[in-house]
Amino acid sequence: MPKCLYIETVGCQMNLLDSEMVVAALRQHGYTVTDNVEQADTILFNTCSVRQHAEDKIYSALGRLRRLKQQHPEKVIGVLGCMAQKDQALIFERAPFVDLVVGPGQLHRIAELLESVAAGAPRPRMAVSLDRRDGPLAEIRRSHESFDPLRDPTMRPTPFQAFLRIQIGCDKFCSYCVVPMTRGPEQGRPPEQILEEARLLADQGCLEITLLGQTVNSYKYRSGEQMTRLADLLERLHEIDGIRRLKFVTNFPKDMSRELLEAVRSLPKCSPYLHVPLQSGSNAVLHRMKRGHTVEEYRDMMAQIREMIPGAAVSSDFIVGFCGETDRDFDQTMAIVQECRFKNSFIFKYSERPGTKAAERLVDDVPYETKQARNNRLLAIQNAISEEDNRAFIGRIVEVLVEGPSKVTMKRADTGSEVQLMGRTHCDRIVVFQGSPQLAGQILPVRVRDVTAHTLLGER
Ligand code: 5AD
Ligand code: SF4
Repeated sequence: MPKCLYIETVGCQMNLLDSEMVVAALRQHGYTVTDNVEQADTILFNTCSVRQHAEDKIYSALGRLRRLKQQHPEKVIGVLGCMAQKDQALIFERAPFVDLVVGPGQLHRIAELLESVAAGAPRPRMAVSLDRRDGPLAEIRRSHESFDPLRDPTMRPTPFQAFLRIQIGCDKFCSYCVVPMTRGPEQGRPPEQILEEARLLADQGCLEITLLGQTVNSYKYRSGEQMTRLADLLERLHEIDGIRRLKFVTNFPKDMSRELLEAVRSLPKCSPYLHVPLQSGSNAVLHRMKRGHTVEEYRDMMAQIREMIPGAAVSSDFIVGFCGETDRDFDQTMAIVQECRFKNSFIFKYSERPGTKAAERLVDDVPYETKQARNNRLLAIQNAISEEDNRAFIGRIVEVLVEGPSKVTMKRADTGSEVQLMGRTHCDRIVVFQGSPQLAGQILPVRVRDVTAHTLLGER
């Protein structure tokens, strides 16, 4: 009997990739995939712990399955990912009908774990990695090793784009962040493995690869005397025929190097796009966040980027309302956003996470309403800047990798066959224009006729 899988994924690109791997593994074991939860006999949630809100949503989604599970006790319900690693047995306390809990470092065992549940292994079953304090580093590292060799082209963002993990875990321990706990110690993958996977992706028709790492520019891999860093990796990936664009996220400001910027400048396939979260414009806040850099250092890094890669798009993340953030601190964040002119910024309200240094030592003292108001104000100036800078593109021709129909695929009555297509420029700006769906997967010149804060509106 073929098994039928429903999988829901929240969170970052790492999670999207993890889900792709899980689906690939389960397809090999005869599973089909459905987007109808009622039809599925295996229901998996790949979860995120970065903010409380993401966890609340999963617990309510689980709550909604209680009835289904009562009516069909044979259905298997599993919680995967960061919340599985963080909450572990707590998940069974809050949702006792869950059968399986699997941390992000144990996902390579998913098929075997589901089989054992089906074969009547005592429920609930749990597979999580070691805690940071649970043993020797080598053992902890091994317990977080995830798997990547299986690729499932149908689970990719589009057939022409893929994520490729080059690093797992994080060793930065920013005081607000749960990731070093849920994803374990930082480990670079061997370059040969990465290159092999990239070649496989290119053979499958992939044009754009986005390298993933929590602090991707800290990537290093030592083999004997030989040390490979991200710049070396980019040079080698650049030689693969078929690959047209290379991106990498997320960068850690302190580890941005001249060599890396030189690689981006000199390798035409490297997108002139850098995501480098700043988090706050106040040195006092950055210090409490344990980010390891000052506003001045970030500013120097920006100047170096602007000088070495003119026209590069830089984007950032910000947390508003972190412990002790005053109006003055927040004004400094507003000022630096105005100064840096990011392509876009992802803005988050601080959410206290159990187990982090901030939760243990600092008071989450900014009222929710203040966080919300600061979020709105920062977003408003970022949007104004994004729109202003996008205006410079009006009348210009940009090279767009066409991803496919946009979310609003408005069929045009006069031609019938044309839809609104969506794609991205080399510098990661979103472009929409009318065209045939068959253009998906091509890199095409598009003329920009108008813009909004988030989109270039083009025509062919
Ligand atoms: N609260 C709010 N935002 C957070 N981020 C990470 N941890 C938290 C938290 N506890 C944000 C940071 C990070 C992005 C992925 O999520 O801005 O860069
Ligand atoms: Fe979290 Fe900081 Fe690591 Fe990013 S660098 S994953 S914010 S601890």
